[in-house]
Amino acid sequence: MAYGDAAIAEAARLIAAGRPVAVPTETVYGLAADAYDGAAVARVYQAKGRPSFNPLIVHVGDIAQASEIALFDDESRALAEAHWPGPLTLVLPLRPGARIAALVTAGLATIAVRAPAHPAMRDLLAAAGTPLAAPSANASGRISPTRAEHVLASLGGRIPLIVDAGPTGHGLESSIVALTGGRPRLLRPGPIDLGLVLSERGGDVEAPGQLARHYAPAKPLRLDAAEARDGEWLIGFGAVAGDATLSASGDLVEAAAGLFERLHEAERGPCPTIAVAPVPEVGLGAAINDRLRRAAA
Ligand code: TXA
Ligand code: MG
Repeated sequence: MAYGDAAIAEAARLIAAGRPVAVPTETVYGLAADAYDGAAVARVYQAKGRPSFNPLIVHVGDIAQASEIALFDDESRALAEAHWPGPLTLVLPLRPGARIAALVTAGLATIAVRAPAHPAMRDLLAAAGTPLAAPSANASGRISPTRAEHVLASLGGRIPLIVDAGPTGHGLESSIVALTGGRPRLLRPGPIDLGLVLSERGGDVEAPGQLARHYAPAKPLRLDAAEARDGEWLIGFGAVAGDATLSASGDLVEAAAGLFERLHEAERGPCPTIAVAPVPEVGLGAAINDRLRRAAA
């Protein structure tokens, strides 16, 4: 654990090296990674031991930086102007061509963005010079950390640095509002009350599968495929080669980082069906398989 300018500089160096770093926001401590770096985001899941991939919130310095990755309209811009920096997350259409890692959005065409108010996170955003994807900095299934000691107890030994700036202010995760067409929908209640009622299709997505909309390829998907059958686009892993591969060397971080890209590619490809090689059910493999089972269902 560390604090001060030296800690922020070290955190920025680790972020640039693809290592997730714990840092306080005004809500809870987050585990931050470069949102453009899929392998770094995979390491966030690895450290949390999260058994499934949900889309993550991307933290930015201001509306201008958010506009590089998300599409604003008058309504969302007004909300951001009124409440940023602060504990309001907006789910917006992903800007076409934005280089955000597909693991951040879990393959969706929408993105959750917020400009946090906490000086430590703001300083890190400025020093890192990149949008930061950050879920709460707790091991999967544990409560969200509001002090550096909570992060240490939960993730100690699994992450290289915790920026310690004392207890967080709100102690409750940001409000999440979706502005992706139609009326604004409250997906998670939080510190900012916009007078919206919780959307029936929304709610916090802590448990796997709770997210109303999940990316799934439009083609049938067969799991545990050792080889391609007629008309199948095979996504390989390790020794199973294919039309593409999650990781030829059997590296689960690489596989997680590229999972949604490989599925999108297979969907766009020439074959009517998709097959995926077996992925071991260990570490990140459990999250990869959870996602594949959903895509195959
Ligand atoms: O206060 C907070 O928001 C904290 C701090 C660290 O900023 N972060 C946080 O992140 O709570 P996380 O990953 O625990 O929660 C992200 C929430 C999940 O419920 C997720 O499903 C939702 O945001 N979310 C992210 N992208 C989404 C999208 N494209 N559509 C719908 N929901 C989305
Ligand atoms: Mg959380």
